[in-house]
Amino acid sequence: EAHLRKGLPLSGKKVLITAGPTQEAIDPVRFLGNRSTGTMGFELAKRAANLGAEVVLVAGPTSLKLENSQIELIRVTSAQEMYEACHAHYAKMDVAICAAAVADYRPKYVAQEKMKKKDGELSIELERTPDILFSLGQNKKKQFLVGFALETENELENAKGKLQRKNLDAIVLNSLKDSGAGFGGGTNKITFIDKNSEIKTFDVKEKSEVASDIWKEIISRIHA
Ligand code: CTP
Ligand code: CA
Repeated sequence: EAHLRKGLPLSGKKVLITAGPTQEAIDPVRFLGNRSTGTMGFELAKRAANLGAEVVLVAGPTSLKLENSQIELIRVTSAQEMYEACHAHYAKMDVAICAAAVADYRPKYVAQEKMKKKDGELSIELERTPDILFSLGQNKKKQFLVGFALETENELENAKGKLQRKNLDAIVLNSLKDSGAGFGGGTNKITFIDKNSEIKTFDVKEKSEVASDIWKEIISRIHA
């Protein structure tokens, strides 16, 4: 089977992708989460496999399913678990793309029993989760490292700031403002920005097409 992949643009390449939301436990039955479906990350993984890559896909809780001999799917729940799975594989990777919507905060204390309601208000103390993409940037050797940025204001400046701060090779800006883009929907509108501030904007497209566009941009840079 391997000989069939020879000649494909990503044959012989190892790719790490994060996808989906994370869930941060409050107690045994409750969590903090977000509305990410994981679609963008799964489409990036499928596309990479079709282009010849060996893929490790680290996914938070999602209803999406995947059967592909080229894709090792690792299912995790929390940001901490996603962090550990990524670092277990990162050293041998050629490309890493963080498409997951990782929770920025988690409850500082996880209740061992289901919390009982009381009169009055409730506050839950939160602490920061590890920034997975930042830590991959800190440990970067040969990897081409790509992040996503979801912004609602100062989109380009904020995305460029993340690219620099996290030591990325490129960042994909998700434009929420423009039609149909972002969480839940089947379409997305992106701007691809590389570390030389080369900027390419794309129309609203199906996420499978967006994945194809992103891989074209990455492949042209890793082969340059
Ligand atoms: N990311 C990550 N680990 C985190 C938070 C974010 O790996 N704990 C990654 C995301 O997968 C994405 C990128 O960092 O590729 C940017 O995520 P985003 O939420 O847009 O930015 P943050 O750095 O979290 O900053 P903020 O939410 O304040 O804009
Ligand atoms: Ca965030």
